[in-house]
Amino acid sequence: MASIPSADRCVYCHDYIKADAPEIVKVMDHYNGDKPIEWVKVFDLPDHVWFNHKRHIAKDVPCQKCHGPVETMDVVSRTNEFSMGFCLACHQENEAPTDCWTCHT
Ligand code: HEC
Ligand code: HEC
Ligand code: HEC
Ligand code: HEC
Repeated sequence: MASIPSADRCVYCHDYIKADAPEIVKVMDHYNGDKPIEWVKVFDLPDHVWFNHKRHIAKDVPCQKCHGPVETMDVVSRTNEFSMGFCLACHQENEAPTDCWTCHT
């Protein structure tokens, strides 16, 4: 379960570390204004598609298969479009379910 930590977690260090950097100034504005840092989604499926990480992680599908080489990215960007064909191709190869209602409720 991923989440964005609250801004007071950042203050500890960023009161001192790079306090003048533009991105840190933004973080401090959130802290001082008591408004949570909004989650800007990079990966987002349409509402008519159901997805859950759990089964994928349980089967050791590497994060990079879907998210690209995030460990080399300074700022995460989307490396694939999550088309239905992308999901289905891997499901077919791995004998994962391909019934329509696997991903559509
Ligand atoms: C334990 C200390 C610590 C905490 C807590 C921490 N950071 Fe950092 N942060 C650092 C250090 C160290 C750097 C790297 C500074 C460098 O070497 O450039 C950094 C760098 C950054 C940078 C890059 C700044 C730039 O312009 O280069 C951002 C953005 C950032 N942190 C955001 C956050 C946010 C948001 C939080 C809270 C969710 C947070 N940090 C919490 C220590 C911390
Ligand atoms: C089988 C493909 C797949 C794998 C493997 C996978 N993810 Fe994802 N991930 C997705 C999809 C699809 C979404 C978007 C879900 C949605 O919109 O409901 C997502 C969303 C996310 C998000 C939220 C991103 C955002 O832009 O807000 C994070 C964080 C994330 N995944 C981390 C991970 C990590 C860490 C791993 C490995 C442990 C991992 N994922 C493995 C497909 C995958
Ligand atoms: C790289 C391979 C791969 C990709 C890409 C992939 N999946 Fe999967 N998916 C799997 C595997 C393997 C399973 C686990 C099957 C099992 O548990 O036996 C699975 C299981 C699932 C399940 C759970 C089925 C159930 O009955 O609980 C859903 C839902 C699902 N995937 C949706 C998606 C969606 C939506 C996408 C595209 C955004 C996607 N998957 C992309 C490999 C993949
Ligand atoms: C493994 C997951 C998965 C399975 C199984 C699946 N779909 Fe999809 N489907 C998706 C994803 C992901 C999208 C969204 C694609 C996008 O946004 O471009 C989608 C989109 C769609 C759309 C909307 C098309 C559009 O242009 O947005 C329809 C209709 C659809 N699927 C029908 C089906 C039917 C019928 C089946 C069974 C034969 C099926 N799907 C099986 C993942 C799946």
